[in-house]
This record gives sequence, C-alpha cells and structure tokens, in this order.
Amino acid sequence: ATFKVGYFVGSLAKDSINRKLSQALIKVAPDTLEFTEIPIKDLPLYSYDYDADYPPEGRALKDAIAASDAILYVSPEYNRSIPGALKNAIDWGSRPWGQNAFARKPSAIIGASIGGIGTAVMQSSMRSVLSFLDSPQLNAPEAYIHFRPEDYGPDGECTNPSTREFLATFMREFEAFIQRVHASAPGHIG
Ligand code: FNR
Repeated sequence: ATFKVGYFVGSLAKDSINRKLSQALIKVAPDTLEFTEIPIKDLPLYSYDYDADYPPEGRALKDAIAASDAILYVSPEYNRSIPGALKNAIDWGSRPWGQNAFARKPSAIIGASIGGIGTAVMQSSMRSVLSFLDSPQLNAPEAYIHFRPEDYGPDGECTNPSTREFLATFMREFEAFIQRVHASAPGHIG
C-alpha cells in the first residue's frame, strides 16, 4: 500500500536546517510513502474565537491533516521546547473541541540542532502533546540529529553514508509503523 505523509517543518527560517533535514528524509524514504508539506507560516495565532468560523488557513491545515495517513514532524528545539509556530499549528489542528484532526493518526518526530542535544527536549515535549492528542507515535528509533552542514548537499541530500543510513532506517521504521497502525484500525486511515 501507499501512504500519504503530511509533514510539518517546525522552523520558518529561510535557511532552516530542519527543512534541509526534511529534504534528506524524503530522498531516502521508502517509495511507498508520498510526502506533502503542511504549511504553518500563514496561520494566525490560534484563539477559540475562531472555532465558530475557521479562516481559510485554518481550514486548509485541518483538511491537509485529514487527507494524510500519517504525520511527520521535523522540527528544531527552541528554548528547550516546541517552536511557537509549530505549537500554534498543532493547536489549530486540535480544535474545535471534539474535532481533533490528529486523533489516531500515526506520527513520528525528528529534529536537528546545531548543538549536541539534537532536539531531545523538544521531542519529549512533543510526545506529551501527541499523547494528549491521541496520535500514536513511533517510539523507536529515536532520532536526535546533530546537524553538520558539510553532510548535506544543496538539495538537502545527505552525503554522509552513516547518517544517510540512519535516516533511511528511521523512515523504513516509520513506514512499518504506519502499516501496523493501519492494519490494526483500517477504518481510520487510508
Ligand atoms: C535555538 N537553538 C537551540 N538549539 C538547541 O539545541 N536547543 C535549544 O533550546 C535552542 N533554542 C533556540 C531558541 C531560539 C529562539 C533559536 C532561534 C535557536 C539553536 C537551533 O538549534 C538553531 O538555530 C537551528 O538552526 C534551528 O533550526 P532551524 O530553524 O534552522 O531549522
């Protein structure tokens, strides 16, 4: 089967290393995964005042999540937590109450930082959020990427063989996880 993966890049920076990482991941992912970025940069800051009538950006976000069989988060760590822009997008997707778009969507988290901690603290915050949103998460392998610019080409392809193999394994395991979730609850996705 083929699965549609909607992915979030948690950074708005034009030279984002996490955007590069997303490109590297897509290049090494199994052919059975199709990727569509879910944009977050034009979303207003969420408030429940919008619940009665979501603006087009909010609707587009919810539709994109609904159309995805699985969600991939590729995000930096900002101040030991989830970047505000990404958290805002998640808040949009989770509402109105009772219409949480993330429920039962299989998900995976990965991130790159310039420091050695590799977004570990952000990922642990994300795991709490995804648990609350009832989104099953790939638990292993974990992927904390210490980003070295020399390991990536201009289109984001990873040129370091061992990092490249690590990223490929992560995506293979994600695909297997999506298949397992799908097999156990076929009505919910696909
Ligand atoms: C950072 N950075 C950072 N790195 C980290 O490992 N842990 C952290 O808590 C933070 N905090 C933080 C806060 C803010 C506001 C910024 C701008 C940066 C550094 C971060 O890893 C680096 O800027 C990356 O380049 C961010 O990824 P993107 O945005 O390039 O994808």
